[in-house]
Amino acid sequence: MRWIVLEGPDCVGKSTIIRELSKILQEQGYKVYITSEPSDSPIGKIIRGWLLREKVDPPHIYALLFTSDRYYHYHNIVKKMLENGYIVLQERYKLSTLVYQSQMGVDEKWIEELNKYVPDPDIMIVLDADIQVLKTRLESRTRRELFESDISMLCKIRQKYLEVARRMRLPIVNAARDLSDVVRDVYEIVSKLL
Ligand code: TYD
Repeated sequence: MRWIVLEGPDCVGKSTIIRELSKILQEQGYKVYITSEPSDSPIGKIIRGWLLREKVDPPHIYALLFTSDRYYHYHNIVKKMLENGYIVLQERYKLSTLVYQSQMGVDEKWIEELNKYVPDPDIMIVLDADIQVLKTRLESRTRRELFESDISMLCKIRQKYLEVARRMRLPIVNAARDLSDVVRDVYEIVSKLL
């Protein structure tokens, strides 16, 4: 089973890196499945259509809904694709809830408890970029979601990702470089699984 998750703040380039990585793996003959959270499940649709459009209180609702979407998505999609021999490349997973919802004031221990019954992926990589780079990329976006509305939140999210990644000894890749360099570094980490 090969399940790779890319994490990191908004605008760091997760989906671009996943697309490039997928091309490389497919050229090598691997079957690749790309997915992300929030997913396309009915719960994911509630998240995108409601939670990410307005501020909802208390923030525990975010932790609960993102985590419900995760349980659905893992058991109904990811697990099956892995069993069918696909390499699953996924954007966001447990760490997103830990980082974003703890920044909203939700207790980390409770978030970890909620996420106890979905497994960890084989590899988790955190993409990072200087706050100035993230800010420039954010400002060029026309449509913005809840957490993309202010720079101070983006800054806190980035710091929290770095803190959690160091604590969990996860690889951190600097994504504020040429795309080919970032992809090369991510591929190097992933290739250990192949
Ligand atoms: P994102 O991957 O940025 O979606 P898009 O492809 O539309 O840019 O995810 C949407 C937002 O949801 C992002 O700001 C992070 C947030 N989020 C959480 O707050 N908690 C979570 O558990 C997840 C999965 C995402």
